[in-house]
Amino acid sequence: MGSGQQTAAVTAFVVVAALGVLAVFPGANLADRPAQQSSLEPVSFVMPEETTPTELADADAELVVSTCSACHSLEYITTQPRGMGEKFWHDQVTKMVKVYGAPIDQTDAEAIGDILANKFG
Ligand code: HEC
Repeated sequence: MGSGQQTAAVTAFVVVAALGVLAVFPGANLADRPAQQSSLEPVSFVMPEETTPTELADADAELVVSTCSACHSLEYITTQPRGMGEKFWHDQVTKMVKVYGAPIDQTDAEAIGDILANKFG
């Protein structure tokens, strides 16, 4: 490719890129936005009520419910695929402790891994 062709190719690229930018922001006019978007009215909302999933509602799962609901919904547990095996569940608990800093001692971590493996395979 001669240098003239190269320059033409670069110019074409720049033009196409500039058109692309214009296509994404077609003369965005901020003043056209509805007035309510810039108001500072307080917004209120109600969080959905947290309930214990039925799979974890029995006495066997008490330790799981009290330990594992501190940071997130228990549905994080019940929506995992079934039949992943015992190691999977122990690894999940280990990850909560090592990666996310869950304050769970070794004895409870073992027990929770066993409970989850029994329930969800
Ligand atoms: C210290 C806070 C904390 C505690 C306590 C905790 N988790 Fe988590 N958990 C997290 C975070 C953070 C994530 C990742 C959230 C995300 O990705 O949206 C997560 C995600 C998960 C997931 C989804 C899969 C994944 O790996 O992201 C599972 C399953 C899970 N936790 C199980 C448990 C179990 C079982 C317990 C009780 C032993 C537990 N968690 C306790 C913080 C915690």
